[in-house]
Amino acid sequence: MSLKMKSSKLIVRSLNGEKLKRPPFWFMRQAGRYLPEYRKIRQKSKNFLDFCYTPDLAVEVTLQPLRRYKMDAAILFSDILVVPDALGQKVEFIEGKGPLLDPLQSVKDFNLLSSENFHSHLSSVYETISIIKREISSETALIGFSGAPFTLAVYMIEGMGGTDCTRILRWANEMPEDFQILIDLLTEIIAEYLVKQVDSGAEIIQIFDSWSGILQKENFCRFSVNPIQKILGKFKKVYPNIPVIVFPRNAGTLTKTFIKETNIDGISLDKSNSLDWIVKNLQPYITVQGNLDNKTLVTGGKKLKMETIKILKKLNNGPFIFNLGHGILPDTPPQNVAILSELILGWPDTEFQSL
Ligand code: CP3
Repeated sequence: MSLKMKSSKLIVRSLNGEKLKRPPFWFMRQAGRYLPEYRKIRQKSKNFLDFCYTPDLAVEVTLQPLRRYKMDAAILFSDILVVPDALGQKVEFIEGKGPLLDPLQSVKDFNLLSSENFHSHLSSVYETISIIKREISSETALIGFSGAPFTLAVYMIEGMGGTDCTRILRWANEMPEDFQILIDLLTEIIAEYLVKQVDSGAEIIQIFDSWSGILQKENFCRFSVNPIQKILGKFKKVYPNIPVIVFPRNAGTLTKTFIKETNIDGISLDKSNSLDWIVKNLQPYITVQGNLDNKTLVTGGKKLKMETIKILKKLNNGPFIFNLGHGILPDTPPQNVAILSELILGWPDTEFQSL
């Protein structure tokens, strides 16, 4: 028998390079505010981080979308910003606004970060993973995740998302040695964090580099690709057979660099990559995941069906996992997620359904 772990789970098979009749699927932010049952249980905890750190609640919301839609994977319910929180930085989530952190002002502030209590701080996350693993069906894969070093650094330095990123770019361009210290610290701890998630039951890992697209080529390699490859090196020493997917959002043609320079197993794509480009430049070498526009899922109707079929026709001729180009938006009608799921589950027979 080959050393590759044999798995009957569709997503794992796809990540091992197999082309399947219908693609496996899951959706980024498949648990979240578009579901009324999520909004209801979310009220039980005012503080979003407390919500993430309460296994009963985190397990329940992880399972909610699976009860409705038969995805091929559950993704741990948590957030990428538990990492700076566990390192001792102040992290808050403001209702209706998103995350707010006490931003790192200079290299001196690195002293405020400590990985000493990191794993004990996140013990409830590990517990959540082990409970989910017991509760999901034997066909469903469990995805663990982390933010990438660069994306976490964006929040840690900018203090929030959605800024013009002048502070982070100034650090990266004008103080690259200082910046590297932070990136190295994150690289080290993220590798440990991912190993612990697999110890607890995660079967696939996704690394979110949602902000890597703001970097030009040289810094893209230095601060996004290289740290992720270092994480892979450490992680794969412990778990050589656990597949790792990376999501370098908005990286466009630089996405190719990941395939050349790292040994990741899957690449998650957004709309910045056209289907023809993906088929030619990425899919011959790696399992691709993506890339339906999350706004199309809000719109629904004929457009949703046509765009979905277009993706299925183009990308399901090689190893492929259906997903969105970015997370499900809060104003998405749950019924549209049902329609999309049925289209994928019925593929290729659904191609000829009346549009
Ligand atoms: O995908 C899932 O279902 C698993 C859970 C998950 C969440 N966040 C839950 C969440 C995952 C994998 C994330 C990743 C995450 N978090 C990323 C990377 C992916 C991406 O979107 O680019 C980033 C950048 C974050 C940081 C973050 N968390 C922001 C910017 C926000 C505010 C924006 C928003 O949608 O509110 C969050 C909050 C958050 N994370 C929510 C959820 C369900 C909403 C909070 C709430 O319910 O009050």
